[in-house]
Amino acid sequence: MTEEEAKEDFLKRIENYRMQYEPLDLEYDEDKSYIKVINAGKSFYVHNVNGHVQSRVVYFLMNIHLLPRSIYLSRHGESEYNRIGRLGGDSPLSENGLKYAGKLLEYFANEKLDDFRIWSSQKIRAAQTASHLKDLAEHTEFWKCLDEIDAGICEGLTYEDFESRYPKQFAERDKDKYHYRYPSGESYEDLVARLEPVIMELERQSNVLVVSHQAVLRCILAYFTNQNRDDLPYLKVPLHTVIKLTPKAYSCEVEMFKFDIDAVNTYREKPK
Ligand code: G3H
Repeated sequence: MTEEEAKEDFLKRIENYRMQYEPLDLEYDEDKSYIKVINAGKSFYVHNVNGHVQSRVVYFLMNIHLLPRSIYLSRHGESEYNRIGRLGGDSPLSENGLKYAGKLLEYFANEKLDDFRIWSSQKIRAAQTASHLKDLAEHTEFWKCLDEIDAGICEGLTYEDFESRYPKQFAERDKDKYHYRYPSGESYEDLVARLEPVIMELERQSNVLVVSHQAVLRCILAYFTNQNRDDLPYLKVPLHTVIKLTPKAYSCEVEMFKFDIDAVNTYREKPK
């Protein structure tokens, strides 16, 4: 489509809207709550907004934008704990993990992104991965709220240890993984609340790479791809894979780039 055709199509669309909708009237609609977004967010007219949910909607609308950009999600490279199947902890990258960080640098050098930002968790394995790319980015920031789900008393255990030491807890998690909270730790539901500021900030930004962890990236991926809470804790976010999210008009394009570097599989299937 040429620029002229696109413009004509857009103006026709506005004409069609005009036939279907009527504008809000300052006097007649005095009691209604509404927000007018003028010129794709250049200015806003907010009227009669009450309560928490309505003000969150205003906050959200004031933060989104329509400019083309991509959000990249990557787990840290394979860690020493990943290799031995342990949950959480703060171990460094394995040899394969370090190779992945090197490949990630090549990948992003080829992407040639403007205003590229990197946000990493503060865990050693993520910071090590992100640090390889710091010369490519305008800013590299280390956010505590991107740290992995806190597995509480199960930090450092394998799934087998968890099941044999705390069989009841293990079964409860399998029954409702989204709401299950590790004793002295977090649930996926807690994680979603912790990530709200990150997600809002992602809405505002241009090209960002988030270097984080399996559970955290599941929450971010679920938000952009509209997944429900039963499926969220089982989304596949493998190691050594970049997930590229490109927001479009009514959806978000998802592309997965798997790098050819060995890594263990940390995915545990949903029990039948
Ligand atoms: O505990 C750390 C894992 O990355 C989260 O995996 O929620 O599937 O057990 P999980």
